[in-house]
Amino acid sequence: MAETDQAPPPSDQLAALNLTDTVEKHAFSDRVLIRSIVGRPDGGAGLAGQRVRAGGWVKTGREQGKGTFAFLELNDGSSPANLQVIVDAGLSLLSKLVATGTCVVVDGILKVPPEGTRQKIELRVEKVVSLGEVDPAKYPIPKTKLTLEFLRDHLHLRARTNTIAAIARIRNALAFATHSFFQEHNFLYVHTPILTTSDCEGAGEMFQVTTLISESEKLEKELIKNPPPSEVDIEAARQVVSERGEAVKQLKAAKASKSEITASVAELNKAKENLSKLEERSKLKPGIPKKDGKIDYTQDFFARQAFLTVSGQLQVETYACAVSNVYTFGPTFRAEHSHTSRHLAEFWMVEPEIAFADLQDDMNCAEAYVKYMCNWLLDKCLDDMQFMAKSYDKGCIDRLRMVASIPFVRISYTEAVELLEEAVKGGKKFENEVKWGIDLASEHERYLTEGKFQKPVIVYNYPKGIKAFYMRLNDDLKTVAAMDVLVPKVGELIGGSQREERYEVIRERILEVGLPLEPYEWYLDLRRYGTVKHCGFGLGFERMILFATGIENIRDVIPFPRYPGRADL
Ligand code: 4AD
Ligand code: MG
Repeated sequence: MAETDQAPPPSDQLAALNLTDTVEKHAFSDRVLIRSIVGRPDGGAGLAGQRVRAGGWVKTGREQGKGTFAFLELNDGSSPANLQVIVDAGLSLLSKLVATGTCVVVDGILKVPPEGTRQKIELRVEKVVSLGEVDPAKYPIPKTKLTLEFLRDHLHLRARTNTIAAIARIRNALAFATHSFFQEHNFLYVHTPILTTSDCEGAGEMFQVTTLISESEKLEKELIKNPPPSEVDIEAARQVVSERGEAVKQLKAAKASKSEITASVAELNKAKENLSKLEERSKLKPGIPKKDGKIDYTQDFFARQAFLTVSGQLQVETYACAVSNVYTFGPTFRAEHSHTSRHLAEFWMVEPEIAFADLQDDMNCAEAYVKYMCNWLLDKCLDDMQFMAKSYDKGCIDRLRMVASIPFVRISYTEAVELLEEAVKGGKKFENEVKWGIDLASEHERYLTEGKFQKPVIVYNYPKGIKAFYMRLNDDLKTVAAMDVLVPKVGELIGGSQREERYEVIRERILEVGLPLEPYEWYLDLRRYGTVKHCGFGLGFERMILFATGIENIRDVIPFPRYPGRADL
């Protein structure tokens, strides 16, 4: 241990851990990650004496010793923990360093702080390499404790806060866990389209994608600047054509030279071209193109109506029915006007689809996947989870442990309704009436998973009337092989089903729910040719983050939330 004037860490335990190896520079930037110092089991103590370059943003800073030095809490996002940095007044103007949000890059020596301090290591700065200053009077998020609502008005800066950065790391970990889980189980990651011409859920919640509006606006402006030709202009152009035609005729009759005739024909062609251009332009009309009183989508970008996808399921089924185990994971969009803390207009969904599998397999897969994500967070993100437990939800770590270890409750929809009816008899009040056939409301789902069972509950076999056309009809002809996974804190986390693989039955179902057959012919082909029993589900990725972290509002767990009235950045 070289160049330290402080005693090495006192514990023999640390010596036993042999943590005196050097800290490595980041592969693609000129500094070490703060995590590689403070994220070690010994808090970095074993690195005392090493010279490092660190960079980050000041969380808090204060001048000390009558302005002779400053303490900075530096964070680069690689870990929830900060690196304590000490800068002497001779190295920089301290008042410029201490403002929250300032970016600094410093060289220094790692030292074990005096006994009695919280930190296991601190950086004694030898040189301030660079500085990105902040004017604290203008910086929009100068304080360390700000409400999540306030931060939603500053999306571009909110990742500088401990909470949003922790959520970003947890979100990243859950995405990694998702790929890891499905890859380990031999699923292919399939990219389904974001622009689609099929409505998966048939719930009329699609955002339309069109260039008709911008095109018509462009045209309107253009026609004002450059008005279309009048009937008089066109008549004049016609006149020119006929004169030129006459000229050609006369030259031919007079047996003029070939070059004279060619030149005259060229003039005629020019006049004809001009006429057809004018005629074309005279047809231009401002406004959205219409045909038979309806919008003429044949003039739209895709020559038909198109939308943002609400789910990649229908498209991913085409791959499941060919390569058997697949999943898609991407953004989905719903134009629901729900202002709830559980709904977004743009959210991410994980959708596996499994061939040669039924509803039981589907539930088993969903349960295994959720448990896998819980274990992953406990394993790889415990520091961030501890931050969440401390700041937002005391019980979040215990909840992950519980969900990872206990079997989920599985009850049929009919049993769920009976339990809810029992609860009502016992005095429980719900805003929405409970009776067989209703779509379970969030309050019902929360009662089952939080009140009654206090663990995840899978409800299966829902009435066909409240579910999508593609779900497999059960033998009772009243219910479909659907399943929803309900979890504490969130309610519905997953919705899935066994798919109707019988051609005649699904055809009937499409007609029964009042959808046209034509757009689904390709989907019916999957049943016409080599049909296979298959199932799948969709997990709302942001809801999984809510469930894991205990954060209350879904708008805070996606970097750029979109909801009615808001789409910043
Ligand atoms: O239950 P949903 O509508 O199911 C489907 O879209 C199926 N096509 C999935 C499949 O079988 N492949 O949506 C699935 C999940 C819900 O359980 C919920 O967690 C989430 O997506 N979800 C939303 N999350 C945030 N904001 C919204 N507006 C959401 N709508 C659904
Ligand atoms: Mg659902």
